[in-house]
Amino acid sequence: MSETVIGVIGGSGIYQIDGLENASWQEVETPWGKPSDAVLTGVLEGVKMAFLPRHGRGHVHSPSTVPYRANIDALKRLGVTDVISVSACGSFREEMAPGDFVVVDQFIDRTFAREKSFFGTGCVAHVSVAHPTCPRLSAACLEAAQDAGIKVHNGGTYLAMEGPQFSTLAESKMYRESWGADVIGMTNMPEAKLAREAELCYASVAMITDYDSWHPEHGEVDVTEIIKTLMGNAEKGRALVSRLPALLGAAREACPHGCDRALEYAILTAPDV
Ligand code: ADE
Repeated sequence: MSETVIGVIGGSGIYQIDGLENASWQEVETPWGKPSDAVLTGVLEGVKMAFLPRHGRGHVHSPSTVPYRANIDALKRLGVTDVISVSACGSFREEMAPGDFVVVDQFIDRTFAREKSFFGTGCVAHVSVAHPTCPRLSAACLEAAQDAGIKVHNGGTYLAMEGPQFSTLAESKMYRESWGADVIGMTNMPEAKLAREAELCYASVAMITDYDSWHPEHGEVDVTEIIKTLMGNAEKGRALVSRLPALLGAAREACPHGCDRALEYAILTAPDV
């Protein structure tokens, strides 16, 4: 039995945790450079929390320049066991409407200009990401969202694009009609893959802000529309986060899905190299 430490990586619109006790911003150094910002640590309902604004306070990192490796490593160094990603996304499904949340369970990774692994020269490892999110942590996020009165969808495939531009109409239609993606965003990859390499449980709560560009009645995405929906969503996102400590509890057992042992059979390099 060990201790739960909940790490929240907040996206656009989420820059704090309500009601955090003993709150302080901690600067964390990592071998991968500095994380996006200092990390806000504290205790919520008896459970340790660590909050990292993904884009930095003031939104200074674009999706391509977010230091994903430093962010995951910083949370690991602070003892985080469970990472909840909160981010904005566009929807490819009529029934997944702006304002709704999706507890994502699959990803299609179309990003190409980011460092995606802690491993490479010197130590080679191949972890499985067949099931990239933790079912136990995702179930807690679903319950927290339902308790908070949020319209939430259980499961969905998130297409991670490089950005920073939004998709063309042809791309939007292809992702939706041929590739079966449900939502689209720019930040959950390689974050989810790195969390798995760091043996952290990871769940993703995507807050829908728009219908991307495929929807004939909604025209193109624009940032003004996204920000308007985000303002409403941010409060709901914080309500969801505030329910997690009670659902996860302070004492932690081994992850039933093995997220915390992901490297057990993944390292190929001989130990004495
Ligand atoms: N984030 C919010 N809406 C998005 C969209 N339509 N495409 C990519 N990222 C997004």
